[in-house]
Amino acid sequence: MYLPQETIRKKRDKEVLTQDEIQSFIRGVTDNSISEAQISALTMAIFLNGLSKEESVYLTLAMRDSGDIMQWKHLDLPGPIIDKHSTGGVGDTVSLMLGPLFAACGGFNPMISGRGLGHTGGTLDKLASIPGYNPFPTNEQLTEAVKIAGTAIIGQTGNLAPADKRIYAARDVTATVESIPLITASILSKKLAGGLDYLVMDVKTGSGAFMPTPALSEELARSIVSVGSGAGLGLSALLTDMNQSLAPAAGNAVEVQCAIDYLTGKAKPSRLHEVTIELCAEGLLASGLAKDLDDARKKLNASLDSGLAAEKFAKMVHILGGPSDILENPKKYLAQAPVKIPVKAEKNGYISRFDTRDIGLAVVALGGGRLRSDQVIDPAVGLTDIVELGQEVVQGEDLMMIHAQSEKDAEIALKMIQKACYIHDEKPIALPLIPKRISVQDL
Ligand code: URA
Repeated sequence: MYLPQETIRKKRDKEVLTQDEIQSFIRGVTDNSISEAQISALTMAIFLNGLSKEESVYLTLAMRDSGDIMQWKHLDLPGPIIDKHSTGGVGDTVSLMLGPLFAACGGFNPMISGRGLGHTGGTLDKLASIPGYNPFPTNEQLTEAVKIAGTAIIGQTGNLAPADKRIYAARDVTATVESIPLITASILSKKLAGGLDYLVMDVKTGSGAFMPTPALSEELARSIVSVGSGAGLGLSALLTDMNQSLAPAAGNAVEVQCAIDYLTGKAKPSRLHEVTIELCAEGLLASGLAKDLDDARKKLNASLDSGLAAEKFAKMVHILGGPSDILENPKKYLAQAPVKIPVKAEKNGYISRFDTRDIGLAVVALGGGRLRSDQVIDPAVGLTDIVELGQEVVQGEDLMMIHAQSEKDAEIALKMIQKACYIHDEKPIALPLIPKRISVQDL
């Protein structure tokens, strides 16, 4: 008979768990025969004593196997299943362009994305600002979108990695979220249950990142690459800068507009472009759709220039219930906030720092994000025309535009943003946009 307390005791005493013990524990988590107290005790023991790479792989696979695993083989798709996961940030619009770009280059991207929580935005909330777009499609719609558009950005349907839900809920209330092996297993088990062949990880680093220091961001990236490859995935990770909003817009409809402008060639914000292309290039390389990173970049830029990536986005939106002319008439569909006020520079100088987390929280305060999972999102509100770090500004110049439902909301956000933007006399040293690339060979 399996005794969960023996597994807890072993980890408490810094012993190594076997695959059998880990599988049995996760089975008990899934069928509710293991209590919250036992889950919490094991997660605390793991938080304190860690897991070896093998233990992490066993935990990831057991959590993946706790529910449904999406299957794509029966569709006989003429290309690999590729996906990307980001640890989340502010103005992180990448997924909206990356799925269509993968598709335009021969990949297939069924992307299970999440809703925003806290200061970070969620891809699902952004797409929900397109009227009619159904992130919970029928099987037929999903199959058609993946086959025809090559990408379907959807919410979690079915029962993917249910063990993670119970474990995460226990971690959330027992101060054990910040454990690299537990974060690794949580992210990878859900991604693996999506049935993908290749994964690119975008691990954010900086003042708007989930991990509090660059060293911990790198440790998480290394752990995910190591455990993911141990679990049979082809993957690599990029550390990307989150010391400022990645896109010049942060919110929901405003980020969809930004993605449409990018895909249709109306605007190419340089940092957003570079991060998007580099993440896509990693995916094309890992999946064999490009012979090297340069070849991948050429293919991606060509699919942007030809309009093929934009066409894939439009097809996905239409198949999943949205309008057929979203590219031609985005303003007809994307909600606009009634109040727009600028945030003005309080003095001359250079933008030297953003407290990016607080910028994200200003979007939440406007109603564009949520602090509790039951909060409803206002698609129209957010920020646009956001200045960049290092930019020279003069007193009174606009630093960004606030889009709000009322003057009162705008004033609250304005105060938060003013406190989160720093202007100094000296130009700050530019930080690398992609400080590190981590592949299996780099471990
Ligand atoms: N995101 C996840 O999906 N899981 C974690 O544990 C942390 C971040």
